[in-house]
Amino acid sequence: MAGGSHGFALVAPASRGLGLAFAQQLLTRTELPVVATTRKDCAGVRDRILTGKNVPSSAERRLRLFEVDVKDESTISSMADAIRRDYPDTPLRLALTVPGILHVEKSPSQIDAASALDSFQVNALGPLLLMKHLSQFLPAKSTPEFQSTSTSGTGGESQLELPSHAVYAMMAARVGSISDNSSGGWYSYRASKASVFQLAKTFDLYLRSKSGKKALAVALHPGTVRTDFTKDFWKGREMLEPSDSAERLLKFLIGMSPDFDGGRGKCWDWKGDEVYP
Ligand SMILES: NC(=O)c1ccc[n+]([C@@H]2O[C@H](COP(=O)([O-])OP(=O)(O)OC[C@H]3O[C@@H](n4cnc5c(N)ncnc54)[C@H](OP(=O)(O)O)[C@@H]3O)[C@@H](O)[C@H]2O)c1
Repeated sequence: MAGGSHGFALVAPASRGLGLAFAQQLLTRTELPVVATTRKDCAGVRDRILTGKNVPSSAERRLRLFEVDVKDESTISSMADAIRRDYPDTPLRLALTVPGILHVEKSPSQIDAASALDSFQVNALGPLLLMKHLSQFLPAKSTPEFQSTSTSGTGGESQLELPSHAVYAMMAARVGSISDNSSGGWYSYRASKASVFQLAKTFDLYLRSKSGKKALAVALHPGTVRTDFTKDFWKGREMLEPSDSAERLLKFLIGMSPDFDGGRGKCWDWKGDEVYP
C-alpha cells in the first residue's frame, strides 16, 4: 500500500453504477488507500467492490467503507472525523463525488414538491456538503507534492500514472447544461444538476487560492451509461458500460493540467470535450 505522501482516493457513493466502477478501478489501477461510501450495507458493498473483475486480493486492506447518506450531514461529518483520525498527514489525492437521483417530470404539472426536494438534496446539496467536509483534506500550497506511485501492476490492469496534484471531481450531467437544453422536461433533475457546474467552478476558485496548482476541481458528464439510473431507457439504445465510462473519465482526469488557464473549474465529458453551462 502506498504511504501517506501518496495520498488517498475517495469515491462517494460506491454502492453501484459508476461509483462502484470508479472504486474498483482505483483499487485495481492504483496502490492508494480507497475510501468509499454507501448509504447502507457496508459489508455487502465491500464484497461487491472487492469481487469485481480484476480487483486484486491485496485491495482488501486498502479499502475502507463508510456509511454516508448525503441527505444527513452528520454522516458526512462522521466520515470526515474518521478520515482525520485514521489517515493522519495523508492528503486527498483523487475524489469522485457521484450521488444522483432522477424523478422524471415531463410537464410542470408532474412536479411533486417532495420528489423535487429529494432531487435537490441528493444532486445539489449532496456534492455541496461532501465538498464542505472533504475540502480540509486537499493539499494546501505548502503541502509537498504527491510522490509518483509504483507502476508495478497488482491486478494485471494498466496502472494509472497519477499527477503530482490533487483532483476533486463532481458528477454533473449534460442535461444540467442550460445551453445544451433543447428538449425540456426533467425540471428538478436539470436544475439540481445545473448547480453542480456552479459548485465545481466556485470550489475551483477557492482551491486556486488555497492550494495553487496543487489541487483542482471539475464537474463531469459520464456519457449515457448502462446503470440502474438509465434502466428505463436501456431498450434499443447504445450505452457505455460503467467500467468504460469510469476508465475514460479517469484517463481524462489524471491528464488534466492544474494551470489556471487550463480546464479546471469546468465540466468535461467522458470524451474529454467541454460541456458548457
Ligand atoms: N447513468 C447515466 O447515463 C448518467 C448520465 C449523466 C449523469 N449521471 C450521473 O452519474 C451519477 C451516478 O449515476 P449512476 O448512473 O451510477 O446511477 P445509479 O446506478 O442509479 O447510482 C446512483 C447512486 O447514487 C446514490 N444515492 C442516491 N441517493 C443517495 C443519498 N441520499 N446519499 C448517498 N448516495 C445516494 C445511490 O446509492 P444507493 O445504492 O444507496 O441507492 C447510488 O450509489 C449520478 O450523479 C447521475 O446523475 C449518470
